[in-house]
Amino acid sequence: MSFQAPHNTLLIPGPIELDDVVLQSMAHYPESHVSPAFVKTFGETLTLLRRLFQTTNPASQPFVISGSGTLGWDMVASNLIEKGEDALVLHTGYFGDSFAACLETYGVRATQLKAPIGDRPSLEEIQRALVETPRKVVTITHVDTSTGVLSDVKAIAELVRRVSPDTLIIVDGVCSVGCEEIAFDAWDLDAVLTASQKAIGCPPGLSIMMYSGRAMDRFKSRRTPPSSYYASMANWLPIMQNYEALKPSYFATPPTQLIHALHTAVTKITSKQLAERFAIHSQTSDRVKAAVAKLGLTQLAVKPENQSHAMTAIRLPPGLTSADVLPGLLKRGVIFAGGLHREIAPTYIRFGHMGASVTDPGRDDIEKALVALEDAYIEALRAKGLQGQS
Ligand SMILES: Cc1ncc(COP(=O)(O)O)c(C=O)c1O
Repeated sequence: MSFQAPHNTLLIPGPIELDDVVLQSMAHYPESHVSPAFVKTFGETLTLLRRLFQTTNPASQPFVISGSGTLGWDMVASNLIEKGEDALVLHTGYFGDSFAACLETYGVRATQLKAPIGDRPSLEEIQRALVETPRKVVTITHVDTSTGVLSDVKAIAELVRRVSPDTLIIVDGVCSVGCEEIAFDAWDLDAVLTASQKAIGCPPGLSIMMYSGRAMDRFKSRRTPPSSYYASMANWLPIMQNYEALKPSYFATPPTQLIHALHTAVTKITSKQLAERFAIHSQTSDRVKAAVAKLGLTQLAVKPENQSHAMTAIRLPPGLTSADVLPGLLKRGVIFAGGLHREIAPTYIRFGHMGASVTDPGRDDIEKALVALEDAYIEALRAKGLQGQS
């Protein structure tokens, strides 16, 4: 029996439903952030993250900083690239626009390579863009949460290494770390940025990152100082290194209770084979996508290889908007998100299937959501005098 108060099931693409053990570990008495006990918790958490990101290279550097996923963009923009330099942003939805806007805030020249909604830039287009102009960094949104489009990070990384070996490969893994395969060393990535509140299964509030030795060297050889104070690696690097070496250190106060929650969540994830975790997310995603198709509905990402396993972006038929369907879901105890892509927001809904809702055999969140979706959809069609497509 869960101790959590009864509540509607949160199946938006983050924040997500949480395990009791994660929530309970947040109810920790206050600790000094430099006490030996807390230093041990933080240090172990950083080391466990190496396993989650699949890196054994000692040059890889984890960072956990109070903030949301967005802070990861500021870290990249203010430490790994300098004013006037070029970045290539691979755009598969809303979050590409935002990463580009963040880079531009720091004076970086961010060029976006855009694909039609639901699709992703092709390898040929990426190659052309990299050969045309030397780029200091290329950014990839692994799963764009606005469209549910999955990028082929492995293939893009191979291409970048071949045609532009000095370009840093930056992966926005906010909606993928913990549910999609990411092999930091094997794919030769330079940065993977994520946040606590999605597939890792923690409350919001932590920006979680892994950087390669190559990325850290790029930072160390900057001509100009980092262009941010709070997001400066110069300020945070010694702190992360000290915590992992179990030495107390201070730049800015870490959120001690949240670090406990992250420690619990990452301990749980890494106590099993990661491959099993990716497989169960993939199977659940297949089940959801099959149920959506059975209702005669389509996804924003049409091609199966473009479809994320973390979430499903469901297109509504003409005549229906998210405002017609979401209240019916809520009435049945299920919360989905509306659309986020600026051009088509009202025309689709988003179903997040990550973390405890997928991995905990004691929960029936996905089954409940699929029943609620069918009922709410049929109810909305009837209310509008429309026919379903099936
Ligand atoms: C792919 C992606 N990148 C970045 C972000 C920004 O993260 P946050 O809202 O935690 O700042 C999000 C948020 O949903 C996201 O889905």
